[in-house]
Amino acid sequence: MIEVEGLVRRFRSTTALDGIDLAVSAGSVLALLGPNGSGKTTTIRILSTLLRPDAGRVTVAGFDLRTRPMAVRAAIGLTGQYASVDETLTGRENLELIGSLLGLRKAERKARAAALLRRMDLAAAAGRSARTYSGGMRRRLDLAVSLCGRPRVLFLDEPTAGLDPHGRIGLWDTIRDLVAEGATVLLTTQYLEEADQLADRIVMLDRGRVIAEGTSAELKARTGGQVLDIQAPADDLAKAADVLADLGGGPHSGAIRVPAPGPAVVAESLRRLEAAGIAVTGLALHQPSLDEVFIRLTGSAEQPA
Ligand SMILES: Nc1ncnc2c1ncn2[C@@H]1O[C@H](COP(=O)(O)OP(=O)(O)OP(=O)(O)O)[C@@H](O)[C@H]1O
Ligand SMILES: [Mg+2]
Repeated sequence: MIEVEGLVRRFRSTTALDGIDLAVSAGSVLALLGPNGSGKTTTIRILSTLLRPDAGRVTVAGFDLRTRPMAVRAAIGLTGQYASVDETLTGRENLELIGSLLGLRKAERKARAAALLRRMDLAAAAGRSARTYSGGMRRRLDLAVSLCGRPRVLFLDEPTAGLDPHGRIGLWDTIRDLVAEGATVLLTTQYLEEADQLADRIVMLDRGRVIAEGTSAELKARTGGQVLDIQAPADDLAKAADVLADLGGGPHSGAIRVPAPGPAVVAESLRRLEAAGIAVTGLALHQPSLDEVFIRLTGSAEQPA
């Protein structure tokens, strides 16, 4: 549904996008994950026809961005990084205004506005001016506005930025519903957990380049997969590391960490420690977080200036 090849965009001396490739299949969610300034918004703005690329080929919903921009516009919905609702209008008026811009007849735009207000949990506030809305309500109204045209492809630029945990989970549910109804979604996020929760595939950007691409599980596997952390009394840690050394075990923040591709490693580690007379005080098996993957891939946790 979305295909991008060799996308480049420069702003004077800044190369915001330095040859991005990505593809999103119909009915799936792709998360563009990256720190500030990595090129997420620039990508979304180009794909939604708001900004011209310097090089590269893009098709959205089967239409070439260069030759069929209006067809692309008709197929997409966009929720930008900053809420773009008209503060002087009520929630309902915002939606009906977009409906009339889309050329919907009065009955149809009223019906769509009412349905979207209900869906976004804004029915009670529908008659209030958007100026009085909280950040989360504006975000939901903004998403409702982008759904007015029943888009097949949705671009969401940091859809949950600034929302509290409750608001974030609510919006995640809405996005999942839209996908279940057949929408294709490209969203950006700085939250690893968000990408993990929503995305079928993740593309990691850093300084305008794709540094990794895959499912959440694939990206996690790139840091070596699952690990076992074993706690033991401080006096025994050195001995424990010795006993587990040939399994790849070694000290890791006050515990011993052993690579654990399968459960056999857990049994074997415990058996050895018991034989050595070392009391195990804690045991945890976990996947590396996407944060750890990102740090591993970029070589630092620092955000570019
Ligand atoms: N209109 C512009 N003029 C000049 N430079 C720009 C412009 N838009 C973006 N840039 C630069 O391009 C780079 C990528 O910016 P972009 O907004 O795409 O990043 P982002 O990943 O969306 O970041 P954030 O997480 O802060 O939203 C940055 O270095 C930014 O300063
Ligand atoms: Mg941005």
